Amino acid sequence: MKICTIIGARPQFIKAAPVSRALNAIPGMQECLVHTGQHYDSNMSDVFFTELGIPKPHRNLEIGSGNHGAQTGRMLEALERVMLEEQPDWVLVYGDTNSTLAGALAAAKLHIPIAHVEAGLRSFNKRMPEEINRILTDHAASLLFTPTDTATHHLEQEGIATSLIEQVGDVMYDAALYYGEIARQKSHVLDRLGLQPEGYILSTVHRAENTGDPKRLQAIFEGLQKVSSNIPVILPMHPRTRATLEKNGQLDLTQGITLIEPVGYLDMVMLERHAALIATDSGGVQKEAYFYQRPCVTLRDETEWVELVELGWNTLLTPNNGKQIADSILKQIGTSGRPENLYGEGNSADLIARRLVQ
Ligand code: UD1
Ligand code: UDP
Repeated sequence: MKICTIIGARPQFIKAAPVSRALNAIPGMQECLVHTGQHYDSNMSDVFFTELGIPKPHRNLEIGSGNHGAQTGRMLEALERVMLEEQPDWVLVYGDTNSTLAGALAAAKLHIPIAHVEAGLRSFNKRMPEEINRILTDHAASLLFTPTDTATHHLEQEGIATSLIEQVGDVMYDAALYYGEIARQKSHVLDRLGLQPEGYILSTVHRAENTGDPKRLQAIFEGLQKVSSNIPVILPMHPRTRATLEKNGQLDLTQGITLIEPVGYLDMVMLERHAALIATDSGGVQKEAYFYQRPCVTLRDETEWVELVELGWNTLLTPNNGKQIADSILKQIGTSGRPENLYGEGNSADLIARRLVQ
């Protein structure tokens, strides 16, 4: 059996790592790994292949950055060519990026069945590029692997046949368990940055609705700056955010915040595990805060991971006022939510691999 896996952006490398390992453990399974090249800096791409032991991609399409239409269009054309050559039995896509949608569209047009990992997430905000990508991908897929009850419910509400939906838990939880141990042994990031456990705030910011709006970006960085006069703030900066702050002439808003380059997953895990609190607009990082039982403030209007808000682990805050952001972060330090098993048993990758074989 031949599966063509399409990945391209940072969170997809992390999601694909446990699934690739599970697929490769199955006799007779052939995985053709295709990297679209959506992310290409070594600290946004190569580092994950090396650290997580992901097989070298069979193909790197080197699509790079661009406007949504141009980027997705270039991917679509290149992926169609690859799929025609490879003739896979299934195409496997992850999450909600432009690489996901291009992979799903290319496969759908060629009548190759699509399996979607992390299906059923919804923000109900169609201005988000990710919301369009995930809805279209779900409705093109033949097998939808959902991480949570909420995600399964969304698909049922949209009329997707229950026979196509497989609730398997979250592959990011698998990754957190497996690589979390390796990180403990291998990462020295706290020493390197001179950080004390629980003695700093970890922050990441990259989402289009924040980076695309100078007022929101200003509020976020003013808030983090205020926090940094109480407790150090460490921020591994996404290249999009750096480019935008430079373009807007807003870089001085980062004074007082410890900006570092994007880090590898093992260092990220250690930074998350020991943070006093995590303030982020990332989907993956919100969940990882919960995996490591850290309070989290999510700097967005809505979240797809609603159960974390309901259980009190995550505070959702529209980022339009710096003081409000600082107050919320400082108030949530030391808090925790109710414990509950939300994301499966840490065996999602095996369940996915077995189901694909069936
Ligand atoms: C993409 C996804 C987003 C996901 C994020 C994970 C889409 C529409 N968005 O957003 O859902 O949360 O990845 O990180 O697919 N850049 C570099 N080097 C790189 C990659 C990007 O400098 O290796 C810069 C470029 O200026 C580029 C910008 O970042 O224009 C945005 O990159 P892009 O991949 O288009 O979107 P992300 O914001 O990374
Ligand atoms: N991550 C990382 N290094 C960083 C920032 C994030 O390894 O400097 C990891 C993080 O631990 C999580 C994933 O990248 O597993 C989240 O990706 P991102 O925030 O880019 O995208 P999103 O999840 O919002 O789509």
